[in-house]
Amino acid sequence: MIRAVVRGVGHYLPDRVVPNSEFEAIVETSDEWIRSRSGIERRHFAAVGQMTSDLATRAAQAALADARIDAAQIDAIIVATSTPDLTFPSVATMVQNALGMTKGFAFDVQAVCAGFVYALANANALILSGQATRVLVIGAETFSRLMNWKDRGTCVLFGDGAGAVVLAATEGTGTTADRGILATDLNSDGRYKDILYVDGGTSTGTTGHLVMEGKEVFRHAIEKLSETAHAALDKAGLTSEDVDWIVPHQANIRIIEGTAKRMQVPMDRVVVTVQDHGNTSAASIPLALSVGKARGQIKQGDLVVTEAIGGGLAWGSVVLRW
Ligand code: UT7
Repeated sequence: MIRAVVRGVGHYLPDRVVPNSEFEAIVETSDEWIRSRSGIERRHFAAVGQMTSDLATRAAQAALADARIDAAQIDAIIVATSTPDLTFPSVATMVQNALGMTKGFAFDVQAVCAGFVYALANANALILSGQATRVLVIGAETFSRLMNWKDRGTCVLFGDGAGAVVLAATEGTGTTADRGILATDLNSDGRYKDILYVDGGTSTGTTGHLVMEGKEVFRHAIEKLSETAHAALDKAGLTSEDVDWIVPHQANIRIIEGTAKRMQVPMDRVVVTVQDHGNTSAASIPLALSVGKARGQIKQGDLVVTEAIGGGLAWGSVVLRW
């Protein structure tokens, strides 16, 4: 049986690091409030002129180097993003061009903070159905460009960055001992569009700004994230006890802790990067995978559960053996 196995991982963060204290001059807030309510201590912001496709390309190059695979050997690129450089063409085709590829196919997936989980599930489906053998899956965002700098409830929470993995078709035995993606679980419910959205697009002719009812999103997050993680583990024929690492979407340390608690997984088996990156939307999981591997946390053979929720609402989870 064919499995989609992670062959390489990499990330890129823009140079500019913005500590919480910088926001004290912009809105009525404090380092103490941001740390205690979200767990965030700093985040990276892209430079003027540095676009999502630039971040995505750097992360892709790092993942290809880690996989020791040449860009010419990739047959599909999927970029999860809600902050494309332009409405079209896709960021994925821009990355394809930047990597010097003229073959294969590339497209974006837009499921906001759940985007990378959706992109992984799509890449897995392409590989299992024989439509692709090596897929570059990228999460890349420049959410700093969507901020309303007068809204203290949102502008302190988000950051920019990108992460990527190379997935490759690999023969497995069909058991849970196989490396690669073992199960996926995707969900959305459009009734909740008003609690997290960007107020721009073709309807306004502007890019718009992020609007969020934080408390409401928070309320949905812990319940839905633990449910989807359990659902994916169930589909794989595994339980929480089998989990080596939860690699969650990094929105808020309290959501990360609450979800781990409901899954009965101790925090020393959770990869946490929210303090350094803030919420980077679709980039947060591949960033955490890359940092988790670099820290020596995630090792070959480990069972990893990723889970994310964001605007839509859209949420989901992927169970994979590293
Ligand atoms: O990635 C997509 C998914 N997004 C999320 O998962 C985010 C989910 N939500 C959250 O992470 C949290 O709800 C927040 C971090 C956004 C807010 O934390 P909270 O504990 O839910 O605070 P709150 O919104 O209930 O606000 C508490 C108080 C309010 O003041 P009053 O009304 O109690 O007087 C806010 O006005 O904190 C105030 N506040 C702030 N104070 C200082 C809100 N933002 C700030 C701020 N600095 N930056």
